Amino acid sequence: MTFKLNDEQRMIQSMVREFSRKVVAETAMERDRTKEFPAENLEKMGELGLLGMMVPLEYDGSQADTVSYVLALSEIAYSCASTAVVMSVHNSIVCESILRHGTEEQKQTYLKPLARGDFIGAFALTEPHAGSDPVSQSTLAERDGNDYILNGTKRFITSGKNAGLVIVTAKTDTSQKHQGISAFLIKKGTPGFIVGRLEDKMGLCASDTADLIFDNCRVSASDMLGNEGDGFKISMRALDGGRIGISAQSVGVAQAAFDAAVKHAKGREQFGRKISKFQGLRWMIADMATEIEAARQIMFSAAAMKDRGENYTVQASMAKLFASEMVNRVTAKALQMHGGYGFVKDYPVERFYRDARVFTIYEGTSEIQRVVISNHILKDKRRP
Ligand code: CAA
Repeated sequence: MTFKLNDEQRMIQSMVREFSRKVVAETAMERDRTKEFPAENLEKMGELGLLGMMVPLEYDGSQADTVSYVLALSEIAYSCASTAVVMSVHNSIVCESILRHGTEEQKQTYLKPLARGDFIGAFALTEPHAGSDPVSQSTLAERDGNDYILNGTKRFITSGKNAGLVIVTAKTDTSQKHQGISAFLIKKGTPGFIVGRLEDKMGLCASDTADLIFDNCRVSASDMLGNEGDGFKISMRALDGGRIGISAQSVGVAQAAFDAAVKHAKGREQFGRKISKFQGLRWMIADMATEIEAARQIMFSAAAMKDRGENYTVQASMAKLFASEMVNRVTAKALQMHGGYGFVKDYPVERFYRDARVFTIYEGTSEIQRVVISNHILKDKRRP
């Protein structure tokens, strides 16, 4: 049975759909070319309440549920996946982590402006030699009176250059594994916090992906998120929500590619008839529609489990795994259906194909999602 949306969820969906297709879509192709950060989109999204979607009203958020959030996120992804990934990390990882683990002072100081969209948030867990295995990270945070001094390099940080606040993990106890990792809230402009090189990527070109370097960066102990040693679990819980976000991004991009492919098939003629009349393409259309619908339902089920306060770790991994692999199949078929026009930049389908490629990689590769899911099923934990 199709997931039934309530009136509020439908209203949010149609409001964001209109905004996305009128405003966000307008500059998406150009931004892909110029790699310009979608600051204007984000400013308007802040005004619409899309940057603190699941944050309570008392912290200047919109107090929407996760189902509304995935609807909104997939609508933004439909027009511009670069804008969507910034929205996803900001909402699912940064705002939610501060809401869940922050002190009242941290919520007043950081969560409120984040939720209003005054600045964007980023999350720095990955390092050059610690990707799928974040426990092996080597950034150090050494206690010095009421402060910590951070040294190390983070890599592949979404919005690393443009964020006003970053959640940074670092080792506070090198003798421990995951219990030796802590999380810190670090503002842009803090001395010793340097934005390093920017990645030159095949997709998501308007979203910056940066190295962040910490060179004797002094952070007050009051800016630690949670307690010392909580950083790994804070990150894992954040990624549970983030992975639902990536499923929403996948559904949005897949729907856009599908709609473009159907439109093309209905308009293009070969051998004296519309190419939509050929069975080969009709079967592709049926398979794409079925896969998108399946991904949408599992996305909704993960979001609804989160809203009900159930443990949704496995459902989030399933949603991320299935949806991110689905969008890679769907965008490849959409491109194929466009023939030569799929390969050129006059049509958006090649952008969808490039943008989707990273979805099976970031916020936990498909292989990591399979580890999480199978460990749960077999109740027999295996290291990857
Ligand atoms: N929620 C809460 N706690 C969790 C948890 C979760 N989802 N997952 C694990 N934990 C807890 C465990 O219960 C355990 O706690 P105890 O010792 O108290 O029992 C502790 O954390 C350690 O768990 P594991 O032993 O299972 O940890 P592990 O080292 O074997 O790793 C892993 C598990 C699933 C492989 C994990 O390392 C992982 O998810 N890796 C992928 C990392 C990742 O997704 N990186 C993406 C980077 S962020 C990004 O891409 C953002 C961006 O900018 C777009």
